[in-house]
Amino acid sequence: QCMSDGKWSGILPQCQPVTCAPPSIPEFGVLSYRLLKPGNISYFMDTIVFECVPPLALFGNETATCQANGTWSSIPECRAVTCPAPTGIENGFLNFAVRRTYHYNESVSFSCQSRYVLEGPKHSRCEKTGNWSTKPSCKEPCKIPVKKAVVLYEGEKKRVQNDLKEGIMHGETISFYCKNKEKSCAYTVPVQCVNGNLTLPFCFKERGFFSSLVKTDPSNMKPCEDLK
Ligand SMILES: *[C@@H]1O[C@H](CO)[C@@H](O)[C@H](O)[C@H]1NC(C)=O
Ligand SMILES: *[C@@H]1O[C@H](CO)[C@@H](O)[C@H](O)[C@H]1NC(C)=O
Ligand SMILES: *[C@@H]1O[C@H](CO)[C@@H](O)[C@H](O)[C@H]1NC(C)=O
Ligand SMILES: *[C@@H]1O[C@H](CO)[C@@H](O)[C@H](O)[C@H]1NC(C)=O
Ligand SMILES: *[C@@H]1O[C@H](CO)[C@@H](O)[C@H](O)[C@H]1NC(C)=O
Ligand SMILES: *[C@@H]1O[C@H](CO)[C@@H](O)[C@H](O)[C@H]1NC(C)=O
Repeated sequence: QCMSDGKWSGILPQCQPVTCAPPSIPEFGVLSYRLLKPGNISYFMDTIVFECVPPLALFGNETATCQANGTWSSIPECRAVTCPAPTGIENGFLNFAVRRTYHYNESVSFSCQSRYVLEGPKHSRCEKTGNWSTKPSCKEPCKIPVKKAVVLYEGEKKRVQNDLKEGIMHGETISFYCKNKEKSCAYTVPVQCVNGNLTLPFCFKERGFFSSLVKTDPSNMKPCEDLK
C-alpha cells in the first residue's frame, strides 16, 4: 500500500532461484527415482518419479514436486505385499499355478473347461491391497431344449438330434424356423446362448412324431422373404 510518507508498506517480494537436493533415499535403495528433466539439479516446480524395486509395492504419491522451500512435496514408501494362493474359478482352472503365496504384481492366468467360454481378463494380478484383481468367469454352453428340429447354425441347416447333441457354446446363435400359416411360408428367428440359457422363440413349434411324417417341416417351406 502507498503510505503517507511516500513509501510502500511491507517488504516487497523477491524472486529467488530454488533448488531441491536429490531426495535422500533410505531403506537400502529399494526406492529409486527418475528425474524428468535432463541435468542433475532440480529447480522449483520440477518433478521426479519414484519407483520401487520389484517385488515391492509403492505406497504414497509416486510423483514429487520441488517446493518453494527447497523440499520435495512427498516421498513414498516401498512395502512387501503378498497375495494368498489364488483360488480357481467355476468350470475353469488356473494355468500352471503353483500353490504358494504370490508377490505384488505377479500374475496367474485362467482357462475354462472344454466348451465353456472365458469372459473377462484372462490374467489376474496380485494387487497392492493383497487381493487378486478381477478373475474371469466361464460361461456355460446351452443344450437345445427340443428333441427334434432342423435349425440354422453357422449358415447351415443342422438337425438338432444329430449335429447339435452337444448344444452350442455361450455367445453362439442358432436360428429356428417358424411357420407363417396364412402365407404358408417359413421365416427364421435367431436366438443366442447366454450362459446356459437359450430361450425358444414363441413362434417355434416342436413337431410331434406323426406331424413330422405327414406335414412339411418349416425348414423345407418357402422362405417368407422370397414371396414379396
Ligand atoms: C551432476 O552434474 C555435474 C555436471 O554435469 C557432475 O559434475 C556431477 O558429478 C553430477 N552429480 C551427480 C550426483 O550425478
Ligand atoms: C502427487 O503429487 C503431485 C505433485 O507432486 C500432485 O500434483 C498430485 O496431485 C499428487 N497426487 C496425489 C494422488 O496425491
Ligand atoms: C515446505 O513447504 C511445504 C509446502 O508449503 C510444507 O508443507 C513443508 O512443511 C515445508 N517444509 C519445511 C522444511 O519448511
Ligand atoms: C507389473 O508387471 C508388468 C508385467 O507383467 C509390468 O509391465 C509393469 O510395469 C509392472 N508394474 C509395476 C508397478 O511393477
Ligand atoms: C482386499 O483385501 C482386504 C484385506 O486385505 C479386504 O478387506 C478387502 O475387502 C479386499 N478388497 C476387495 C475388493 O476384495
Ligand atoms: C437364465 O435366464 C433367467 C431369466 O432371464 C435368469 O434368471 C437365470 O439366472 C439365467 N441363467 C443363467 C445361467 O444365466
